Amino acid sequence: MGENNEVEFSKVEPAYTSRHGCRLVWQGANEDDSDTVILNRDELDSLVDILQKDSTGTVVLEDRISKILVNSDVTQFSLQGHKLLEADTLQLQKQVLEYAKIPHEPQYVYINSKQFYPSVWMRREDGEGKGETRQPGDGPGGQAARQSLLDTILRSEPKKTDMPRPESDVFRIFATRRSTRKFAKIKVEDWKIDKILAAADTAPTAGNFQGLKIFYIKNGKTKEALVEAANKQSYVNAPIVLVFCMDPARVKLKFPKDILEKFSIQDATLAASHALIAAAGLGLSSIWIGMIDEEKVKSILGTKLRPSSILCIGYPDKKKPPKSRRKLKELIEVIE
Ligand SMILES: Cc1cc2nc3c(=O)[nH]c(=O)nc-3n(C[C@H](O)[C@H](O)[C@H](O)COP(=O)(O)O)c2cc1C
Repeated sequence: MGENNEVEFSKVEPAYTSRHGCRLVWQGANEDDSDTVILNRDELDSLVDILQKDSTGTVVLEDRISKILVNSDVTQFSLQGHKLLEADTLQLQKQVLEYAKIPHEPQYVYINSKQFYPSVWMRREDGEGKGETRQPGDGPGGQAARQSLLDTILRSEPKKTDMPRPESDVFRIFATRRSTRKFAKIKVEDWKIDKILAAADTAPTAGNFQGLKIFYIKNGKTKEALVEAANKQSYVNAPIVLVFCMDPARVKLKFPKDILEKFSIQDATLAASHALIAAAGLGLSSIWIGMIDEEKVKSILGTKLRPSSILCIGYPDKKKPPKSRRKLKELIEVIE
């Protein structure tokens, strides 16, 4: 392995963005140290071709500059504007050939005119018209159909359209967002901060009572104190620091105290989530801090309100691809 590598090649998995390609994942010791390379179908086919023949060779990627250099011992991924990534050729060969065995048969995917990701349906496998996919032996709308649909949603690419997908398209933001623990020393524009705070204010709240309060920390000393209260996580001293607190007293609903507490933690969490998505949509990145000493945070802020999370925002030092997740069908249990 070359000295550039603090990450080790770990796995091949389906790519969200290339239905017939794959995603190669490198992982380091910390959860932040990961790198991925996405190959489209042709690139994957070329790599498989070389690896199948136990041969050496080069795959030139779509941008015509990046290259995969397959040598007998180490395969190097020389990517434009990126540090050199390496993989043990034998390990890569084993995993890529295993991955390539899975049939990635093309399925016709339609996306309706709204161009929303979930608005996907597939041609029935018998080829007749559009509609729900049916699996052999599965009744219409059965479990297999749903699982297969989920698979397709995960793997599908947006249909080519003349209408550009705006940078702020919410599904693009979801699909590309990645937390950051290292922020660039660049000032975040005030208008962006305003938009993030306004976005937090649009979040739903129980009974619309807005059972939360946001502390926007500008003071450097307060930020440093928050680092201490957040288990010494140094990146809490970020360009923008927002502390989301619960304010159950605002929730004027006739429910038991524990329910109002629960509502206010949900109100504060949802508002923070809206701010996180808004930040991503504005080209910023963030890290959600849940590991906090509530009493210390309360005393630093001089408030009786319980903090639920701290959201640290700024320009990322380095843009990273999103982390992988378990398969959608493992996340969701369909109750018929
Ligand atoms: C409830 C919650 C608590 C978290 N607490 C911390 C934390 O204290 N420190 C930290 O570095 N990251 C924290 N994170 C960030 C997660 O580690 C991160 O979101 C996760 O690894 C997924 O990465 P992604 O956001 O890039 O998809 C927290 C996230 C959530 C939702």
